Amino acid sequence: MKIFLDTANLEQIKEAASWGIVDGITTNPSLVSKENLQFDDLIKEICRIVLGPVSVESVSGKSDDIIEEARGLAKLADNVVVKIPIGVEGLKATKVLSQEGIQINTTLIFSPTQALLAAKAGTRFVSPFIGRLDDISHDGMDLIDQIVVILDNYGFETEIIVASIRHPLHVVQAALTGADIATVPFAVLEKMVKHPLTDIGLEKFLKDWEKVKQG
Ligand code: E4P
Repeated sequence: MKIFLDTANLEQIKEAASWGIVDGITTNPSLVSKENLQFDDLIKEICRIVLGPVSVESVSGKSDDIIEEARGLAKLADNVVVKIPIGVEGLKATKVLSQEGIQINTTLIFSPTQALLAAKAGTRFVSPFIGRLDDISHDGMDLIDQIVVILDNYGFETEIIVASIRHPLHVVQAALTGADIATVPFAVLEKMVKHPLTDIGLEKFLKDWEKVKQG
């Protein structure tokens, strides 16, 4: 399973990249707004640190405007993937842009039909938001199960990015579905590596090792 980091924070991106397990980055307007940096410079720097796909979201409404904006975003770096919210205008833009070779991540996916239509339009990634579904008492993971089967049934190359992840259990459940990618906030990534029994075990080993050293 590929792990993407869901942040626009350069410190978090540098730190996670140094662990050697980050395959890509997802940003969105809310994440970018937390960083006090010029937008183009920020994206270029993220794309320099992480060589895998870096999703950058389009904020235009009409398909012609989305297309124009996406072409500009794609010029920022070779590894930019343009995030386009699902909708009729987004689908139209995705069809055109994907035929031009611009990679699209269709975002704000909350139903299997949205994912199917995005795949048909040629998107490279779909981003179903599971945490936001859980928040309103819908099981977000059911959506992932359905999209995995649908895309597999018809041999779509579209990859599934499980998004809006809130905790490590979401990552485990996503991995069990066979989804291609989990995009995780840095705090979740930190929790994924930790286990209290590892800490207790390590402390004991080091204490016992002191006795060995003292002879
Ligand atoms: C994914 O691409 C989105 O940036 C993100 O996962 C949204 O997560 P949130 O629901 O925690 O805002």
